[in-house]
Amino acid sequence: MLIDNDRDFENRIVAPEFDSGDGEAELSLRPKSIGEYIGQSAAKENLKVFIEAAKKRGEPMDHALLYGPPGLGKTTLAGVIANEMGASIRITSGPAIERPGDLAALLTQLEPNSILFIDEIHRLARTVEEVLYPAMEDFTIDIITGKGMGAAAYHLDLPHFTLIGATTRAGQIAAPLRDRFGVQLRLELYKTEELYEIIIRSAGILGIETDEGGAMEIAKRSRGTPRIANRLLRRVRDFAQVIGDGVVSKEIADVALKRLGIDALGLDAIDRRMLSAIINNYSGGPVGVETLASAIGEESVTIEDVYEPYLLQMGFLTRTPRGRCATKMAYEHLGLPLPERFTGGVQQTLFDTQE
Ligand code: ADE
Repeated sequence: MLIDNDRDFENRIVAPEFDSGDGEAELSLRPKSIGEYIGQSAAKENLKVFIEAAKKRGEPMDHALLYGPPGLGKTTLAGVIANEMGASIRITSGPAIERPGDLAALLTQLEPNSILFIDEIHRLARTVEEVLYPAMEDFTIDIITGKGMGAAAYHLDLPHFTLIGATTRAGQIAAPLRDRFGVQLRLELYKTEELYEIIIRSAGILGIETDEGGAMEIAKRSRGTPRIANRLLRRVRDFAQVIGDGVVSKEIADVALKRLGIDALGLDAIDRRMLSAIINNYSGGPVGVETLASAIGEESVTIEDVYEPYLLQMGFLTRTPRGRCATKMAYEHLGLPLPERFTGGVQQTLFDTQE
């Protein structure tokens, strides 16, 4: 029996965002060098060139924007870049920088040639963004402090630094900001074989005994996302220790993942509810994302950033100008009867009437 009651996105075991249990374990699993970083070969190959060239010139690397779905290792990759450049890194996020003064304080305290990583950079306030432009371009800032008679304008030179911005929503970044990133890298969902390698590596670090079948089963059900793969590995290990002999085998992974409500292709209750809503409430679609969001009680941005990328990649969903549609595979996976448009029933009827 699959558990279909985990309505709450926050508690979702396959949520790509960090959860409270991820913290330390996740940090210890992060690769430090580009050689240890598995997958994302296109982004990695280009990065190697940019890093080497910058090092040869003795300059910091150009500003870089990393974008793609959550949980794919954008922060990890920023750490890898810092390590490869021999630079220190300061990590913050768009919503944490509330006022221009907050950004000014961050920038003026950077060590020369260091990296400033801003996660969720699409959520920067416009007033903060405006301070960032000259900082990125000329390594200077102009800020005004105080109001009225007490106001004072400052022009400050900054140490040279590399800004690495990360976002799940490249489309929401204002063009002037996007254009100031000389390097733009899109991270893709990971292939099963890459997730398998990541799980084997993580199991080695965490001292978890896994066999090939166990690691593969977790890889297949991790929605193309290392953070989910590492979390599922730890949860399956719990089951292995309590109901098995401690080894993460295919059998234990099967039982554990089923008990966690994750089906054979990595879909959880929310994914299935979303596909069922499209099929049952909107005849398979098209249905607009806003309508769908209210039907299943989720935010439309969550649907777009978190659920859709995997469902699209797996071929359960298509995006059309008129909205989202469930595919034949979605009907089949949920065990629902196929409508005529998938069975050739329409042509059959036409043919019959012409006879
Ligand atoms: N852990 C999380 N992401 C990883 C990656 N891309 N390579 C190796 N280990 C990881």
